[in-house]
Amino acid sequence: MCGIIGYAGKSPCQNILLSGLYALEYRGYDSAGIALLDNERFTIIKSRGEVSRLEEKMKAFQASESTLGIAHTRWATHGEPGERNAHPHKMGKTALVHNGIIENYKEAEPILAEKCYTFCSDTDTERAAGLIDLYYRETGDPLAAISRACKKLRGSYAFAVMFEDRENEIYGVRLGSPLLIGVGDGESLLASDTAAFPAHIDRYIAMEDGSISRIFRDGFQLFDMSLAKIKANEQPLTQISRGAHKDGYEHFMRKEIHEEPAAVLKTLAAYIKNGLPDFSASGVDTSILKQLSSLHIAACGTAMHAGLFAKFLIEKFLRIPVFAEVASEFRYNEPIFDGNTALLVISQSGETADTLAALRLAKERGIYSIAVVNVPCSSIAREADAVIYTHAGREVSVASTKAYTVQTALLSLFALHLGSLRGSISQKEAQKICFSLSRELPEKIDEVIAREDEVRALCHSISQKESAFFIGRGVDAHICAEGALKLKEISYINAQAYPAGELKHGTISLISNDFPVIAVSTQLCSAEKTAANVREVASRGADVYLIAPADFPQDGAKRVFALPKAAEPLLPILAATVTQLLAYHTALLRGCNVDKPRNLAKSVTVE
Ligand code: M6R
Repeated sequence: MCGIIGYAGKSPCQNILLSGLYALEYRGYDSAGIALLDNERFTIIKSRGEVSRLEEKMKAFQASESTLGIAHTRWATHGEPGERNAHPHKMGKTALVHNGIIENYKEAEPILAEKCYTFCSDTDTERAAGLIDLYYRETGDPLAAISRACKKLRGSYAFAVMFEDRENEIYGVRLGSPLLIGVGDGESLLASDTAAFPAHIDRYIAMEDGSISRIFRDGFQLFDMSLAKIKANEQPLTQISRGAHKDGYEHFMRKEIHEEPAAVLKTLAAYIKNGLPDFSASGVDTSILKQLSSLHIAACGTAMHAGLFAKFLIEKFLRIPVFAEVASEFRYNEPIFDGNTALLVISQSGETADTLAALRLAKERGIYSIAVVNVPCSSIAREADAVIYTHAGREVSVASTKAYTVQTALLSLFALHLGSLRGSISQKEAQKICFSLSRELPEKIDEVIAREDEVRALCHSISQKESAFFIGRGVDAHICAEGALKLKEISYINAQAYPAGELKHGTISLISNDFPVIAVSTQLCSAEKTAANVREVASRGADVYLIAPADFPQDGAKRVFALPKAAEPLLPILAATVTQLLAYHTALLRGCNVDKPRNLAKSVTVE
């Protein structure tokens, strides 16, 4: 998604802004641009494609000594991803960069046209810049102009704004999309994410939703939308929130898969005391958990697949209904919050707009909310009633891997916690599963990773096909959903996940020897039935790649990845790591850009 960086300070800022853009690249983008202010004149340079192209283009300009500037990586929403739509957009004396969407931007067009503004792009951003400029012309007051424009604009957005005749200050707006202030000595910055701040910046403020900031060399001020001053809550910048390095790995994705054992260990250690689950550190209200008669789960993409995994376990352990729904559909399906219910949201970034919207809806209805989040102080973490942090460390690769593995491990522990709180799981059983999750799981994931070559060997033939099925039953169906998402997002193979028994109700007609099937079978209760489904597709010509314990039936499978011997609740999580490696190596064999798949963004901050 779009990335914003702005600098007001004492040093020439061109390179600071460029480094910030490079650090924001992982979010996903298709063009980039920069605006520098010098002697009351903007220099605006934009380029389609990579930040390196922008840097190249900037070399044609005289190096700027400007100490005030804004820059942007754009992920197209309104208008094709070309130079004319790249940010910053300038209208009159105003230059603006924007992350998010302005839904009613068309309404600004007649107002601006009447005042002789003309448009050079198809973007909602340019219309917002126009409105701010118009009100600045009328009032001469940047804050009044911004606040007035924001009252007219509908949507979810963050802005960084400069005015040509204001050489010392940049303005930031946060209304739905994240924006942070970096605090330095004689300098202040604005950024969509802490990764963009230079290494020496050690404090930041996450702007509150509905706030405006004014940053300048000697500090910053914060206001609400009616321009009353508000207090800032300064946070230290921790190592995890900084820019990331590949540490010798070719790709972030592979590095992050290799980090899974340590991330699981660290996360579970935070929620286990005396061998039993203990979520007191998260502030979750135990009395509410004890009374739950149902639970809602909302999340997106990979996090949703972790949510489906959690639904399976919570229903199994607690025998209460759990309603899991993709967050983008949550509010449109008008959820029924009956009895003693709560909402669990799951998000790696903590900034996903759809998930945040689901959380806000539940809060409006007075529903207790729990968030499973990886990024400290993110919007979802700040707004939920209780936060259970995954300690997965920074995840840079667009394809989420370690976050998912850690989420499934942590949600297994949480389900166990709910079960033991409510007496549906005995203390002894809870202790046993707790031990398996915290001790055995990291070791077994390590074992799977050590056999990466075996997974790679499965990928040669799969990489030559254009479609694939992932099939499994029960909890394995959810592992398949995630496996298929991973394969399609980075290798562009059209991979579909199907409950194994459902194929013969229609989609088995697609099976041929060009249509490989990846079967996941980890549960004894469904092993024979899944084995029958494997035979069904194999006898119709499909190459079947089976991921299952060594002692499960294997006939019909062309190749088998035998899962390490482990307690049954761990096996689906181990199978997930296999599917992540499978997606990674298949994508590599197809020559795909693994860490930056086309059209995708790491943090999806628009609805
Ligand atoms: O940051 P979140 O976990 O809220 O992100 C949700 C999805 O956008 C995300 O999981 C996405 O599906 C993955 N990057 C896919 O690998």
